[in-house]
Amino acid sequence: MKYLIVYAHPNPKSFNHAVKERVEAALKKQGEKYSVRDLYLLKWNPVLGGADFNVSGKEKTPEDIKTEQQYIKEADVLIVIHPIWWFGMPAVLKGYIDRVFSAGFAYEYGPQGIKGLLSGKKVMIINTTGAPQENYLKLGFKDALTKLFKDGTYEFCGMNVVAHKFLYAVPAISPEARVKMLEEIDGLEF
Ligand SMILES: Cc1cc2nc3c(=O)[nH]c(=O)nc-3n(C[C@H](O)[C@H](O)[C@H](O)COP(=O)(O)O)c2cc1C
Repeated sequence: MKYLIVYAHPNPKSFNHAVKERVEAALKKQGEKYSVRDLYLLKWNPVLGGADFNVSGKEKTPEDIKTEQQYIKEADVLIVIHPIWWFGMPAVLKGYIDRVFSAGFAYEYGPQGIKGLLSGKKVMIINTTGAPQENYLKLGFKDALTKLFKDGTYEFCGMNVVAHKFLYAVPAISPEARVKMLEEIDGLEF
């Protein structure tokens, strides 16, 4: 199995960074092959421009998009790690999806409707939040985000979301609770 970690957080001292390190450690321990795409380190251009729009899926696909599409093609499992910002994903990741998951690569329009082209690939999502679990459950944010990310994005492209883990209230909890959360990562089945 080949894993691809897509990671979106600007701060190397963040909890998200610790989560990414933990995932990498788990994959290494299992002897798995993986690549990491750290979108801030890559200085990823998140703006889907006119040029991308006109040529996506064709010969003139911009080099940065081609590179990311190759990483996705080669991966069996995508592990997407990011915080929840304004009840969505960080703009850099949104822009990665806008540009990389293009028509002709990630999905296509056919006579039977829209077809995902990335079938056979699995997706695991790990999200951190500022708000507590109670809010996410009571106010419907967990269901909303699950639906948007799973049905609206990854499964729309034919992939199979096998896990979506929320690590809640990260800034509000104790250091001990954060350590426990990191230990939960070890319990995930990769
Ligand atoms: C721009 C911004 C927007 C945020 N919006 C939300 C939000 O909508 N819901 C939420 O639960 N937390 C929100 N937060 C809190 C972050 O999710 C939280 O601080 C982060 O997940 C903690 O992980 P970190 O220490 O790795 O950054 C926001 C934080 C920032 C900086």
